[in-house]
Amino acid sequence: MPLEQILEWIPPGSPDAALAREVDFARLPAHVAIIMDGNGRWAAKRHLPRVEGHRAGIDAVRDAVETSARLGISVLTLYAFSMENWKRPRAEVSTLMTLLKRYLRLELATLLRNDIRFKVIGRPDELAADVRRELARATERTAGNSGMQFNIALNYGGRAEIVDAARQLIESGVTAAELDENRLASCLYTAGQPDPDLLIRTSGEMRVSNFLLWQIAYAEIWVTDTLWPDFRCRHLLEAIVAYQKRDRRYGGIEPARHTSGAR
Ligand code: FPP
Repeated sequence: MPLEQILEWIPPGSPDAALAREVDFARLPAHVAIIMDGNGRWAAKRHLPRVEGHRAGIDAVRDAVETSARLGISVLTLYAFSMENWKRPRAEVSTLMTLLKRYLRLELATLLRNDIRFKVIGRPDELAADVRRELARATERTAGNSGMQFNIALNYGGRAEIVDAARQLIESGVTAAELDENRLASCLYTAGQPDPDLLIRTSGEMRVSNFLLWQIAYAEIWVTDTLWPDFRCRHLLEAIVAYQKRDRRYGGIEPARHTSGAR
């Protein structure tokens, strides 16, 4: 999308507008993956229950999805619930699932209007029936869209994803001689999608937390101290500007030309 069109929805004179001018729209990361962290701390700072942080996090999700689609990002993946998150108190898990259902119900129109295709990555079969129903509805209703691919990682684990891929390969009778990286990647939840070029983590933690372990092999990592509920367009633009200043060498010695999803 040309800069002029992008500046139409960014407040003139704002820090966001200045950052947008720094972005090279011909070299956007094809796939941006985000570890949304810091909801609990955001709530604690305000003496609120943790779930209020998750509630406020929904506004940041809405902003990240719309901004990414408008900027022309091809794939956005948000880490919403890990397999390890079941260890949280039942009430918190239940609130997260309720927020997710509500988000999908309320935002379906926005996803359709922005031509966004929705997909769940993880093990959705282990989620409650009402959550699965809402996920299936959003997936089916947006299946024909051809704009941004929006993945929500739910009941997701990076190691489990690789195990699931291995199981699929064994079941399909692939021999050791036939197995290579492309074959394995074709059995991941993200099959057919470019690998993340940019991995963002909020709240300052320097961990990958079992997220897209295979796919982030050559991702550029950008960590911000901003807590997830405060994450907005400006932070995404900052991450993209920082990403575009990096030399991506893919293990070689020359900066590689930008190729979406190159490993
Ligand atoms: C991490 O913060 C955040 C999560 C585990 C959940 C993220 C979920 C949402 C923003 C809402 C639902 C998502 C969608 C896509 C509609 P934390 O609780 O670990 O924060 P802390 O580290 O400060 O305790």
